[in-house]
This record gives sequence, C-alpha cells and structure tokens, in this order.
Amino acid sequence: MTKRLLIASRVVGLSDIATGIRRFTLRPERRELFPPSVAGSYVTVRHQSGLLRTYSLCGDADRRETFEFAVQREPDGRGGSMLFHDDIDIGDPVHVSYPIPSLVLAEDAPEHVFVAGGIGVTPFLPLALEVDRRGQRSVLHYAVRSRSQLAFLEEFAGIASLTVKVYVSSEGNRMRIDALLAGLNATAHLYACGPDRLLSAVSDACETMAVGPERIHLESFSGLDPAKARAGDPFTVNLRLSKREIAVPADKSMLQALNDAGVGVDYSCEGGVCGACRVTLVSGDVIHRDICLTDAARAETIITCVSRGRGIVTLQL
Ligand code: FES
Repeated sequence: MTKRLLIASRVVGLSDIATGIRRFTLRPERRELFPPSVAGSYVTVRHQSGLLRTYSLCGDADRRETFEFAVQREPDGRGGSMLFHDDIDIGDPVHVSYPIPSLVLAEDAPEHVFVAGGIGVTPFLPLALEVDRRGQRSVLHYAVRSRSQLAFLEEFAGIASLTVKVYVSSEGNRMRIDALLAGLNATAHLYACGPDRLLSAVSDACETMAVGPERIHLESFSGLDPAKARAGDPFTVNLRLSKREIAVPADKSMLQALNDAGVGVDYSCEGGVCGACRVTLVSGDVIHRDICLTDAARAETIITCVSRGRGIVTLQL
C-alpha cells in the first residue's frame, strides 16, 4: 500500500479575491521551504477534520516559501469548499501533499494559449509567469458568468508577455471556442482548465479543426461524478502480495470495496482527477475511466476510485 506524504503547514493568509473565491496562503511548519514544484501543479490539502481536497497551486512556482491555492464556494457541492471557506482561519494547521505536475507547459512552443472557465483560471497564473520567464508569449481566454467572478486580473496585468481576453456571459459576451481556435497559430499549444462542458467543447473543436492531440493539454477540476464511479458490472480484485480476493459489487467503486475490506488505499477527489488512489496493476481486463493517467501509465497503474475491471483484476497490494 502506498502512503501519501503530507507536509505540516499553517494558514498565513486568507483573502477573498472575487465573488465566492477565497485565496489561501500556507507556510510550512517544520521547514523553511516547500518542496520544488513546476508551474501547473496541484496539491492535496487535508483539512483539520480529515477531509482531503485537491487544488491547483496559483502562486509563483519559484516562490517556495508559500503554497497558494484558491477555492470557489460551492453551496451545492460535496461540502469541501464550504468547509474550506467557513472553517479555516489564519493560524490554523493544515497538511498538504507534495506538488504533483498536471497542466505542464510544452518545452518548445513559442506561444501558449490558455482557456479558463471560472475557477479553472487558477493554474494559469503560475503558468503565465513561467512562460514570461522563458521569454515566450501567452494568451489567456477567461470566461466567467459575471464580472464579479473574475480573479487575479491585477496579477495577470503585471505579466508583460501575457494578453488577457475576458468573456462575461451575463453581458452577452460568451467565449466561442471555434472562433478562438480559428486564430490559433500553427505552433501554439492549447491548455484548458474548467468544467467538463468547457473541456468537451475544446476537445470537440480541436478535433473538428484538426489540432493535434500533442498540442492540447486539458485539466478538469470536477472529474467523474463519484456516484457514476460506483456504477458498473461486478468483478473481482486479486491482491497479489496479501493473497486475498475481494469482490467489487455493481454499486461500489473498487476503492470502496478495497477500503471496506481493510486494505487502506489513500484517496482524495474520488473523481479520477488527483491520482491519490493509484495502485500498481499487475494484470487483468481493465476499464480505465480516470482523467489523470497517461496511456503509458495505464499499462501498469489503475485509478481505483473510478476504474473497473472485467472478470479478475490483479493488483500489487
Ligand atoms: S481519489 Fe482522486 S483519482 Fe482517485
């Protein structure tokens, strides 16, 4: 079983940066600096209650004294955002994972085009800063429902190599992905972060307009609905190291079945996004449903919160 390493930290800054969006600043407790991260990384944060949530880092990746992330208040969500908004004060302890690269910049692209929907804007501040350091250019297309939801605009304005285009749907100014792609330079890379409907629109438009997959980088912050992750045909998990067989019924995820049996697999998002529940795959007919593993990683890894199997799947547990 893999255990996640968490870093003891303290909240040293809280600020409301847009309607319903709070920015958190953490400092490490027992060390000077956080571990290094690359722009476009996320962390898993553990609230004092034990609740785990995954957030993109929104601070400059070169500033290791602090980690910063922003949380959108979601009254109809699963409760994590409300807890982070209502039950964290300055000075409170939290634990945070090592940063995990996710929406990572292509090395050699001269231009990077960012597409953000709502709170999906968070990774683009460190990414735009990194593009600037490299001497490349970036354009941010940033869509929100109302102007009061716009975050980080002042910081974006301070990045010389970045052009920002804002779309406010309540003002009748919707972002049109096809128009945006029509102006895409042939060597530019496209990065999108936001709700699933935005990512689907970007994927569909890229396919229609023949933008190659090597130039497209997508990050969802919602992942698969946990209720959907539970659905599927029953199958059996064979644990090679502990020599156990565990049945996964139709109404449970593999993660739930493993943890109900006392295996103790770590998890966070339960939506196939964060990778916290990954386990080494030995063999079996697997239905991968995550959005965090590459095809190469899927050959030897399975995301237990959303992926399933047919017949018997053998894991290195
Ligand atoms: S718990 Fe996040 S991917 Fe499974």
